Amino acid sequence: MLPAYLPNPVAAVFGGGTPIDFGKKFSDRRRLLGDGKTYRGFFFGVLAGIGIGILQIWLSDMYGLLNLPHHTLLSVTLLASGALLGDICKSFFKRRLGKERGERWVIADQYDLVAGAFILMLLFDPSWILTYVTLPTLIIILILTPVLHRVVNMFGYLIGIKEVPW
Ligand code: CTP
Ligand code: MG
Repeated sequence: MLPAYLPNPVAAVFGGGTPIDFGKKFSDRRRLLGDGKTYRGFFFGVLAGIGIGILQIWLSDMYGLLNLPHHTLLSVTLLASGALLGDICKSFFKRRLGKERGERWVIADQYDLVAGAFILMLLFDPSWILTYVTLPTLIIILILTPVLHRVVNMFGYLIGIKEVPW
């Protein structure tokens, strides 16, 4: 799951600049996505996710960690880009609900990346997810994700990268 988990914190560190929606508004006169979704954040986030994935592939080849899920360039790319596409979709609906950038939206804020990554996987590499994401694994992911999300965001807040601790 590292290729899916890494893009969000990397986007928070390296994000900024031109927003993906170019500042445009939706028909409800609210921002399409908001200033929290930028091209730079997306690009570096996805790149970092793919990078850690390639490292994982390399390590498992070197040391024969065959009991770990077998990643490919396709699977790590889908996890990384799916995570941040899920994040973008969430922000779209968050704005439609009238929530401002950075406002809290429990459940959606935590699981957007998992939903995005798994939906992209199901569409373009279904055999990977059906092979490796078994029910016990899914349960662990569903428990671990909000815990990691909370810990990493609090850390980001404490070191001044995130404006809010969630
Ligand atoms: N970020 C970015 N580009 C992205 C995703 C994130 O630049 N595609 C950066 C932004 O600086 C953002 C920070 O990472 O503020 C934290 O991301 P997130 O919590 O997803 O954004 P929020 O600011 O909370 O905005 P939203 O309410 O839309 O989730
Ligand atoms: Mg947020």
